Amino acid sequence: MPDNQNKPAAELVDRFGREVRYLRISVTDRCDLRCVYCMAEDMTFLPRSSLLSLEEVVRIGSAFVALGVNKIRITGGEPLHRRDILKVFRELGALDGLEDLTLTTNGTQLDRFADSLRDAGVHRLNVSLDTLREDRYATITRTGKFDRVMRGLDAAQAAGFDRIKLNAVILKHRNHDEVCDLVEFAVERGFDISFIEEMPLGVVGDHDRAASFYSSEQIRRDLAQRFELIPTTESTGGPSRYFRIPDVASRVGFISPHSHNFCDQCNRVRLTSEGRLLLCLGQEHSVDLREVVRSSADEAVLRQALVDAMAIKPKGHDFDLQAQPVIFRHMNHTGG
Ligand code: GTP
Ligand code: 5AD
Ligand code: SF4
Repeated sequence: MPDNQNKPAAELVDRFGREVRYLRISVTDRCDLRCVYCMAEDMTFLPRSSLLSLEEVVRIGSAFVALGVNKIRITGGEPLHRRDILKVFRELGALDGLEDLTLTTNGTQLDRFADSLRDAGVHRLNVSLDTLREDRYATITRTGKFDRVMRGLDAAQAAGFDRIKLNAVILKHRNHDEVCDLVEFAVERGFDISFIEEMPLGVVGDHDRAASFYSSEQIRRDLAQRFELIPTTESTGGPSRYFRIPDVASRVGFISPHSHNFCDQCNRVRLTSEGRLLLCLGQEHSVDLREVVRSSADEAVLRQALVDAMAIKPKGHDFDLQAQPVIFRHMNHTGG
């Protein structure tokens, strides 16, 4: 886990004194699933020609690390869909100063990729899993096959990652009654688990976000029926607030953008697959880094653009599930 105490002074500091140490890179907006909270059923994906090349991704990632970023998470869409993606892991994994190289995946291809990811220097994985029921998995993901993600989890466990975290977006009437079973599964398998409140990003078809909202507070009450949850101050540098269950290795986290605003601790920025640097998940403030890397080969120019971008990092998000989304990007463009 990154330890900022032993790090050189951060060069990426915003107007509110927040140090940016964590970069999330979305390497593709494409995905084999169509989760109801993330996408519409019928999605138009970006033309491949508009994406950053893998070399550009590595170049931008390296510039961030040179400026004090010590954690990079590769996301999507589904990152394992991008051809030759292992190259990015290998090259970023070799950077001095990068302490934590991680991946958020839907798990459907982990059976093929787990060993190579481990060899490329990935120590931790986050895998999306909202339900343990095959029929519900098919409905929530619209296209997914439950046994594929189970095979993926088996392969990841066999590959020996230090930690595997499950991400479960909890929706009323779809999977809210499974929170205890999901924790039990995580405990049995030695995984961590984070429960996520849905965020209003992009228009996702007829899924009613306000009606599906299920708060972290409510999940904690549900879990208290079966488990003793002890609050901890542990952090992976992400927004999860973690709890422990006595005598158990697994951590139970809550990502609660509605009921607990974590923006004042924000340490991260995002790079979209088209090279837009987003300064906040819930706002549109951004810088076009594709233009910067394509117009100059000078690393000093790129680094200056990153330092300058800190001036427009907004204070925080203001998500409202009742209103029409004000952020029209879908989560798969941004990488969560
Ligand atoms: P670790 O703590 O490193 O394990 O990662 P993480 O939980 O931050 O990352 P992951 O990719 O697993 O994302 C889990 C959820 O957290 C996703 O739904 C993200 O959209 C959400 N998330 C991550 N960072 C932010 C943030 O800055 N703001 C908001 N609102 N949500 C975030
Ligand atoms: N709100 C909250 N989480 C979301 N994810 C995708 N879309 C949303 C949304 N609208 C989650 C995925 C994955 C993580 C990167 O983001 O389930 O675990
Ligand atoms: Fe794909 Fe992840 Fe979006 Fe589901 S949440 S459709 S797995 S990008």
